[in-house]
Amino acid sequence: MCRIVRRSLGGACPPYDTLAAVHPFLPRRSGSIIPSVATNINARCWVEIDLGRLERNLKRIRAALPAHIRYVAVVKADAYGHGLAPTAARLMRAGADAFAVANLREAAEIREIGSGWPILVLSAVLPQEDQMLLDYSAMPAVSCLDEVERFAALGRASGRPFAVHMKIDTGMGRLGVWHENAPAMYDAIVGNPHLRLDGIFTHFSSADSCAEYTNTQRERFLAALANMRGLDTANLLIHADNSAGIESLPEGGPFNGVRVGLLQFGVLPYKGSLLSNVHAEPVLSLHSRIGLVKTLPKGAFVSYNRTCKLERDTRVALICAGYGDGIPTGMSNRGQVLVRGKRCQILGRVTMDQIVVNASELEDVRVGDIATFIGEQDGGSISVEEFSAWSGQIPWESYTSITKRVQRVYRADTAM
Ligand SMILES: Cc1ncc(COP(=O)(O)O)c(C=O)c1O
Repeated sequence: MCRIVRRSLGGACPPYDTLAAVHPFLPRRSGSIIPSVATNINARCWVEIDLGRLERNLKRIRAALPAHIRYVAVVKADAYGHGLAPTAARLMRAGADAFAVANLREAAEIREIGSGWPILVLSAVLPQEDQMLLDYSAMPAVSCLDEVERFAALGRASGRPFAVHMKIDTGMGRLGVWHENAPAMYDAIVGNPHLRLDGIFTHFSSADSCAEYTNTQRERFLAALANMRGLDTANLLIHADNSAGIESLPEGGPFNGVRVGLLQFGVLPYKGSLLSNVHAEPVLSLHSRIGLVKTLPKGAFVSYNRTCKLERDTRVALICAGYGDGIPTGMSNRGQVLVRGKRCQILGRVTMDQIVVNASELEDVRVGDIATFIGEQDGGSISVEEFSAWSGQIPWESYTSITKRVQRVYRADTAM
């Protein structure tokens, strides 16, 4: 596999540069446009990932942001189930400035694809993973003085200052140094010759639900920065905003980076102001096929535990997917799927490999027909938000719950 090499590397987050090599996941410029659902997929259950849409989403988000804001693409959990390698390759090509991951395996995977992009590890790094930070030149988020010492030891061992981001807990109550103690930890980091501070950040807990609390967190973050002696934010990546937070990103102030996850995959988590005009298109769609069509008599029960009793003779269709593919059991008797562009109700319990739907309303339904759980089909559409709501999930969870037996099909050539 050829790797993408980013040429210029000065500063914390250098501007996007030209690619030195053409990667297999990148589009062929002369490619043709593929129809909306790929009907020739030979799989029982598959997701289609439209890399052209991903690229357009990134460009549209970027265009809506002030020009100095760096784009940190959040690609943890296999790029939210979209597949880390193809997704990261396309985001590199589209102009991402840096990547954020959850662990060192994900960092390693990005390094396999391309070099030159800063990688930030968003979760706690375990001591046994420290060496991998060096191997893959990934930056940890420092949360406490013990970690300052641990990561400084890496710098001492490697003979050059080790780059880190400092994380401040402004009210998420998860990773990071409590905001009131942040200035002291800042002193410890910048005073250590074996460390190089590349960025300072925080994370919002309620950006998709409570602007007031987000504002409180922002204020705490700014106050912590203001109390750091000798801080020069111009040479650091200062970031707080995730997809929902971006929508309230202030024009001024020290912020010069955003961490974009869900939005780049086409889901707007908060209908706020700044990005409400950004037309982000869903990148992923989820499909299966009908494996059997039959009619059950009035009074028959459907699926495990007899949670559904038919009130009339009913034509049903069995779909070749279940919770073993990532269709939540919470959709039992509640969710819908698209067949021939029409919505069909799920009957009874979602089982591991099969789901039964009511196909009575369909004029014609055949074995092999496509059943769409998320996405567009023949004029109908089901969003990931709707899919998630049926089972009380959130879109992040629905995407990352799609299991590995579901084939990933990439459309690399869609129009840019
Ligand atoms: C620390 C951190 N930053 C940014 C993100 C991206 O959030 P979103 O997907 O809402 O853009 C996440 C996602 O979980 C995160 O944990």
